[in-house]
Amino acid sequence: MPTARFNPLVQTLAAPPIPEVQAWKRDYDGHLGPLIDLSQAVPGYPPHPDMLKWLGQAASSPGMAGYGDIEGEPELRAAYAKWVSAVYAADIKPANIHITSGCNQAFMAAMMAVAGPGDTVLLTNPCYFNHETTLAMSGVKVGYVNCHAEDGFLPAPEAVEAMIGEGVRALAIVTPNNPTGATYPEGLLRALFDLCHKHGVWLIVDETYRDFLPLDAGSPHGLFAVPGWQDTLIGLYSFSKSFCIPGHRVGAITAGEAVVTQIAKVMDNLQICAPRPPQAALAQAIPALGDWRRGNALEISARAKALTEVMGDLPDWEITALGAYFAFVRHPFAELSAYEAAHILAREAGVITIPGSFFGNGLERYLRVAFANADVATIRQLGNRFTSCSR
Ligand SMILES: Cc1ncc(COP(=O)(O)O)c(C=O)c1O
Repeated sequence: MPTARFNPLVQTLAAPPIPEVQAWKRDYDGHLGPLIDLSQAVPGYPPHPDMLKWLGQAASSPGMAGYGDIEGEPELRAAYAKWVSAVYAADIKPANIHITSGCNQAFMAAMMAVAGPGDTVLLTNPCYFNHETTLAMSGVKVGYVNCHAEDGFLPAPEAVEAMIGEGVRALAIVTPNNPTGATYPEGLLRALFDLCHKHGVWLIVDETYRDFLPLDAGSPHGLFAVPGWQDTLIGLYSFSKSFCIPGHRVGAITAGEAVVTQIAKVMDNLQICAPRPPQAALAQAIPALGDWRRGNALEISARAKALTEVMGDLPDWEITALGAYFAFVRHPFAELSAYEAAHILAREAGVITIPGSFFGNGLERYLRVAFANADVATIRQLGNRFTSCSR
């Protein structure tokens, strides 16, 4: 009898990485104090009380129980369009916004709208693993643009251009970056935009960590103000981190109306519409919670500073890139793989990080440290923890 088979594109994917490293928690005996989990990028503080109130009100409203508009609640599309227009000093309309169920889904929907089986999407190496696996399970080929520590893990436009050939549909980047924390300077973003435009390739920019840029940094970039941006640029965003609601699953796409039309076809099949109660709550929260968001951004900057100070006292360890939520740290164990180094750190020092090798090739000397998860006092303990497992 023939056996029922799995889709090989899914079967050959690695198991989800976060549960794999979280399982190491069981290996730590607690001798240095409580475990410090710097693996998953989750806000280490609760949502604002008003956010919880609005979520509760919306969830208990009978009107919110039905299906909503595929593209998103009109109130949220309007509130988000107004907000991003201010952030990017651009004129973004509600019709340019498509709400999704989280930013991972935003990536999947955008990717499906622009690339099909056999096409190629360019990612950086290192890259955000869910981008890579989403493409792999969709039968879309990945071309990797290698980024190097000496360049701050940013891609050189010439390296990107050299990889644009037949079948390449998009370049997808993340800024501020996951895993490295590197923030793409405006000039680099403009160069990448221009070459994508020149070659008729989409530039997909995942800005999940946008709201954690330093407050004096100004607009993240001016790409949404470039005339005709709609033909090249697709912006992705997550409400998970800035509003502390990863469990409610809401993200957003900012794109030309023609792109939104294509994405609505994808979304209708994936999900019909993103969850409605958190959309209703977010429409209230976007204008109301600006001060709270800025306070959180300051707190995350303080955590980044504390990590930089702590690591500065450890001569064998090096922060190679840092920004928003993450630092990409070079560990001192030259003879160990990144996986072994991260496992030892978990077992002997009670610190959970993610091996660099989970984000690409040639990254055995690196660990991703999601420092945003821990408060300043906890980060200050990292010096002792890291030195406790010197070999
Ligand atoms: C770069 C990046 N994109 C997307 C996501 C997923 O966000 P969401 O919770 O909105 O799906 C994450 C979460 O860690 C991320 O780091």
